[in-house]
Formats: sequence, structure tokens, C-alpha cells
Amino acid sequence: MSDALYRRKAVAGRPLFREGDPPDAAYIVEKGSVEIFTEHAGTRTRLTVLGPGEIFGEMALIDDSPRSASALCLENCEFIVVERAHIKREIAAASPLVSVLVRTLIHRLRVATSTTPLGPTPLALEDTARVIARIKGEHEIRRAVDEGELVPYLQPIVDLATGRAVGFEALVRWIHPERGILLPVDLLAAAEQADLLETLDLVVARAAALAVAALNRDLAAQGRPPAFLSANFAASHFADERLAALLAALLADAGLPANLLKVEITETTLIVNPNAARALDRIKALGASISIDDFGTGYSGLSYLSRFPIDDLKIDQSFTRRLAEDRRAAEIVRSVVQLARELDIGAVAEGIEDPTQARMLREMGVKLGQGYLFGRPAPAPVACAAFVAAD
Ligand code: CMP
Ligand code: MG
Repeated sequence: MSDALYRRKAVAGRPLFREGDPPDAAYIVEKGSVEIFTEHAGTRTRLTVLGPGEIFGEMALIDDSPRSASALCLENCEFIVVERAHIKREIAAASPLVSVLVRTLIHRLRVATSTTPLGPTPLALEDTARVIARIKGEHEIRRAVDEGELVPYLQPIVDLATGRAVGFEALVRWIHPERGILLPVDLLAAAEQADLLETLDLVVARAAALAVAALNRDLAAQGRPPAFLSANFAASHFADERLAALLAALLADAGLPANLLKVEITETTLIVNPNAARALDRIKALGASISIDDFGTGYSGLSYLSRFPIDDLKIDQSFTRRLAEDRRAAEIVRSVVQLARELDIGAVAEGIEDPTQARMLREMGVKLGQGYLFGRPAPAPVACAAFVAAD
């Protein structure tokens, strides 16, 4: 872009725009000073004088209205031009609530400074509706946590060689009083907005650990080996120094040995948290293991495989689904499994739906898998009863 497009010079005494003009851009003063004024019934009122570093001309862009005041250069000036599209883009990217708040404030200012009465805040109905939906969603998820409506469903993870279940992944479900059983996609965004992701993960992990610990007591009574629990943890936990301690307490309360817990994190978690290595080391020190969830769908660099103490890769269901039809998907999985094996990292395939996929994965050396072929996520009592019944 040429310099002229985003810089502008103006000589002293020159009006930049007049009250009532349609807006083009906003300006940041780099050099000089600018007077902002209004003129009504022959009375000229100076609102302010702006100098370097200050912005003006933003209001009309934000609320798509005519200029609220005139701007005049008091000296030779230089400006940085902030384009309308730029401001629009940033406001659209802000949360709907922030956008509504900003436009409400501008309207309040217009009302406070106008000589003629102005109507109600001109907000588009759909914007207000979005804000209301979002706020309601946050309230609802808070209530769900308080009322114990978020529960783990357990999906069996099987040994692909024998077809026997050896553990579970805990997947959150929202037992909603009106809307039925809701999936993670229906609740994670609201939980994140409400800053409840960590609480949610811990609530789900705790309930699942209790169920699996109880199951393991039954299995021990039958002389059978214990089941493990794989639980999902959002990236935000890894900024929290206390995660390992929280997990230790949770496991102790539930009576589940740490070596039966697999902590599932996504690749992005490792990328966005520079201190993830420390958190992972602490979790490993407890005796728990680390699984990389949705492997292959996020960050493509593989260097973290050697930098972090990873025990398992969970091959994303998008690869599993295409295995039989798509030779390239199959080759990717084969290479990933080989690489993992060289690095002494295990592989768990997700989303196995038919016996062909299970066979191909087994032949590639994938030890563990989960998917509808072996069992859907089910309420903990149902999943545990099925585990005991299988022999
Ligand atoms: P805009 O309405 O686009 O054009 C006129 C600009 O003057 C406006 O954006 C603000 O940047 C600025 N402005 C408006 N009202 C005031 C005020 N009361 N005090 C200081 N600056 C103002
Ligand atoms: Mg998972």
C-alpha cells in the first residue's frame, strides 16, 4: 500500500471535515494540533484541541452517522489514516457485547451533546439478539454447573488386538432440563465465554474418576485388571500452576491411582502455553500420562513431540473415517504411527466405525481405539456395567 493511502498532511487553517459530513476515515494526529468544534445558531463551541497520539473522527464510523463535529487544523498537521474498513473489522471481531457497549456509549454522548432530542440507541435488532443470547447462554451454563447437569459419558477404549475394552474416555454431556442431552459443541463456547471451561473439565473428570474407581474395585474382586480413564483438559488449565495439585487431590478423593489417568490435551494447548512443559512434567511426576487429542488437525509442526513428555497420540477421527477410501489418509496414519513408535509414543485411534478401519489400524500397529464400532459414549453406570459384563 502506498504511504499516501494511510498518511495525510494538512496545512494550518484547513478544515478536515465538517459537522454533518458523511464519514470517510478516522485520524490519529502525528504532528500538529486539531480543533474539534460545533456551530449551532451562529454559536461556535470548541469541544477540544487534540495533539499527537490522539484519535478523532471515529464516532461516525462506529455508528454509521454523519460527523458529530467539525475538525480544523490549528497548525500544519500530519495524520495516520485509520480506514473505515479497519474499524469495522475490529469492532466485528470484538465480542458482540463490547460492540453494543461501544455503540451505546457513542449514542449516549450524542444525546448528551445534541441540541435536538435524539431517539433510542440505534442498535440493529440482530446485534441485540446476539448479545442477549450470549448472556443467557452464560447464565445457563453457570446454572448447569451449579445444578450438576454436566456429567461424563464414558466411551470404551479397546485393545484393537483383542477387541476388549481396557479403559474409557470421559466426554461431557449436558443433561438439560428442557433441551435433552446436549453435546460438547452445544456447550463449550458458552462455557468458555463464562470462563467455566476449567471448572467443567474438573467436574467431569471428578465424576468419571469416581465411577472408574468404583468399577475397578469390582474388577479387582473378580481378579481382573483395572480400567484407565482418559479425560479432556482445555488449554486454559495449563496456564494454571495448580493443575497437577488439583489432579492429585481429585484422584485421591476418587480413589483412582494416577497411573490410570490419561490427561488429554490438544496440540494447540502446547503451542499457546509456553509453560506447558512444566505443567506436563508435574502431571507426569504424579504418575499420570499425557495424550495428544485430535492429533493431526491442529498445529502441524512435530517438534513438540520430542520437546514434551507425551505418552499417546490420539489419531483424529477425520483420518480414521477416510482410511479405507483415501490412500493418502491411510499413508498419513501409517507414517504417524511409525513416527510415534520410533519415539516410544503410543497411538489411540478415534472414530472407528467399521471392522475394516479397525483391521487396517491394527495392521499399522495402532494398539488402542475407540468409536461406535466398539461402543458409544454412555452414562457411567451403563458403560461400567457393560465393561464388567464383557469378558
Ligand atoms: P466523528 O463524529 O466521526 O467526527 C467528529 C469527531 O469529533 C468525532 O468523531 C470525535 O472524534 C470528536 N468529538 C466529538 N464530540 C467530541 C467531544 N465532545 N469532545 C471531544 N471530541 C469529540
Ligand atoms: Mg478427547
